Amino acid sequence: MLPPPRLAQLVAIGVSALLVMVAGLVAGLAGRDPVVAEPPPAAAAPVAQPVEPPLRVLAGDRLAIGSAVNVDALADPRYRAVLGREFNAVTAEQAMKWSAVEPAKGRYDRAAADRLIVFAQQHDQRVYGHALVWHKQVPGWVTDTPAETPASRPATGELLRRHVEDEVSYFRGRVWAWDVVNEPLADDGTLRQSIWLRQLGPGYLADAFRWARAADPQARLFLNEYGVEGVNPKSDALYALVRDLRAAGVPIDGVGFQVHWTLDPLPSSFTDNLARFAALGVDVAITELDTRMPVPATPERLRRQAAVYQQAIGACLAVPRCVSFTVWGFTDAYSWVPGAHPGLGAATMFDQNLIPKPAYGAVAGRLRIR
Ligand code: G3I
Repeated sequence: MLPPPRLAQLVAIGVSALLVMVAGLVAGLAGRDPVVAEPPPAAAAPVAQPVEPPLRVLAGDRLAIGSAVNVDALADPRYRAVLGREFNAVTAEQAMKWSAVEPAKGRYDRAAADRLIVFAQQHDQRVYGHALVWHKQVPGWVTDTPAETPASRPATGELLRRHVEDEVSYFRGRVWAWDVVNEPLADDGTLRQSIWLRQLGPGYLADAFRWARAADPQARLFLNEYGVEGVNPKSDALYALVRDLRAAGVPIDGVGFQVHWTLDPLPSSFTDNLARFAALGVDVAITELDTRMPVPATPERLRRQAAVYQQAIGACLAVPRCVSFTVWGFTDAYSWVPGAHPGLGAATMFDQNLIPKPAYGAVAGRLRIR
């Protein structure tokens, strides 16, 4: 039994958090301006504790609820508390990218990724591996030497094969799913003119999936892409690519839809688009949801943001093969958005003080009626 002062403190925290949550949810659903939460007094608690069931509990076994994780932020107890409480899946925002795990040839640095995996194991969370083959965050020792010439092609292919095999083998049994290939399409739907396409030709896609499957037969293997939320020329091209890879027997298990969005509604075709990919016999997932806005946030912007989050979780819930819903960071305190989009931010479900925003209430509310 808690001593009465502690009990009273917890009740006070719970009631204030409940008010925040209910205000956000009601406003998000009813289209009214939400009450913008004030952080609780510092003496009361570092983080508001929603008294509703956390998202991971509301989701049950239906789908995984994930967040990208900034491993440095795990040093922040407020960050750890919300991440562990709300999510049952984590994606490394940086820590598993090639430039992070092998900054110099043969010099591996997996300490940050290992820290994330320990956290995940302690909190009964799945680990979503991101990303094996990408045109960004490739270490300089790969892209700079050797120079891209026909003569360098075998060596480049060998480097990529070794990277995929090394990484998947190292994390075998601890990673639930991998983004095997990330963003292979250009905006017009043609294959992106990356180092991999230039040096290895289109066959690198199938090779990467086969190398990953051989290195960990249990891991789910995804192709992850952006700009493919609605039915559009790029998603049509992705659909044809996945269909052809499947027809050729390539071990691709799923397609990830990033959904880095703004305050405008998602395309009305989003659910149908997810469903047509699922009909190819693959899982689908929302892998990197965020919704940026001009800062500072206003009640109206937060309401529109909540509507986008609610639309995204609703689309995923409407497609039985949508197996996970992952946000690209859960708090504005550590989001990548302001750094990459000056003047924009506030893109996540929790504010700078780790207080839930209307978007959180909207996702929770949609999960509650699933
Ligand atoms: O770590 C260095 C730091 O030492 C240096 O002082 C600082 C100066 O710019 O840069 C820091 O590195 C930054 C890194 O994030 C860590 O914060 C890089 O500049 C920056 O480019 C990098 O951005 C990441 C971006 O991928 C790289 O393309 C974002 O955090 C990360 O959220 C973003 O994630 C991608 C997904 O992997 C794929 N889909 C799109 C998504 C958003 O762009």
